[in-house]
Amino acid sequence: MTTGHRLAGKILRDRRFGVRFSDGSYPVNGGLLPESFLELDPPDHTRLRRLATPAFSPRRIDEYRARVEKVADALLDRDEFDLIADFAAPLPISVISDLLGVPDSDTAEFANYGALVAASFDTGVTAEMAGANDKVLALFDRLIAERRRRPGDDVISSLVAAEAERKLTAQEMLGTLVLLLVAGFETTVNLIGNGTRALLDHPAQWTLFKAHPELAPAVVEETLRWASPVQLTSRIAHERVDGIGEDEMVTLLIGAANRDPEVYPEAYRFDVMRVHRPEHLAFSSGIHYCLGATLARMEGDVAFRALARKMPDLRQAGPVTFRDSVVIRGLRSFPVSRS
Ligand code: HEM
Repeated sequence: MTTGHRLAGKILRDRRFGVRFSDGSYPVNGGLLPESFLELDPPDHTRLRRLATPAFSPRRIDEYRARVEKVADALLDRDEFDLIADFAAPLPISVISDLLGVPDSDTAEFANYGALVAASFDTGVTAEMAGANDKVLALFDRLIAERRRRPGDDVISSLVAAEAERKLTAQEMLGTLVLLLVAGFETTVNLIGNGTRALLDHPAQWTLFKAHPELAPAVVEETLRWASPVQLTSRIAHERVDGIGEDEMVTLLIGAANRDPEVYPEAYRFDVMRVHRPEHLAFSSGIHYCLGATLARMEGDVAFRALARKMPDLRQAGPVTFRDSVVIRGLRSFPVSRS
């Protein structure tokens, strides 16, 4: 297990480490979810990630911003609400559903599934999750069949086209879609939730940000560092490296690395004026660096600006509850009031 920033970064970028054991098995997936490239080493990782990459390019995300702003503004037309259930969760759910091409009528089913998959990182696969899994795979099958008949301008359509050219199998396409869905739902909600709570708990920083909304990217980065939504990941040594034997697993505590006092002065202080050099590891590093980082940053930026603009007197209106997870850091509920 590592706690420091430099060592974690070094291991994440070291090609002698991967995500699979030498017999090809993967340590976590209970065999229920279709495999995704998060769980694959090169060359399969490289091939599949490349197919999903164009949808997340900075240019595409930039074009998408105005739509996200509209969704955020509409969600904030209320007075007393739960910041997680009514704002931080529906925003990324709506965004990734749109990007993938999931119709609104199916979004609730996907959202429920995303939450169950995220919970399974801690609990393993439950019967409830197995049921949701069957339903979601059937939904994806239906959407894929529709896009085969009538392609659109969404991620499912571009993967269907790649499948027709034999660049990936039907099973790999499902794995990619499930990954994008879960990664898109279950992490950004915590960036928005954790950042809003940090701002309200640090009134001077909240005031500074309201006066300077151009600090939104800095709020996003400091939240990712200080309250990292993904707290840990792991790697497996593919050969003997220093004291680590072949096929031994190393757990990298990303949350701890991001508060490493050797890298960030006064690491425990939430400070939006902080200079982030080197970059935090909230999006990991190396070949598995978060594919959705540009999208997540944009969503966080839009969400924090919308809150500051539409709810300058926002205040906490009751006790928060936390998600019961060691992998994901975030709030289950966060009652707030507009004034
Ligand atoms: C604040 C929000 C987010 C955080 C903190 C986050 C964090 C991470 C982390 C830590 C990893 C790498 C895990 C590892 O190296 O083992 C990762 C990978 C990934 N993330 Fe994100 N993520 C976020 C949002 C998103 C979004 C919105 C998407 C888009 C759908 C996304 C898609 C992915 C994908 C596809 C991978 C796999 C990359 C690969 O294996 O090559 N993420 N994310």
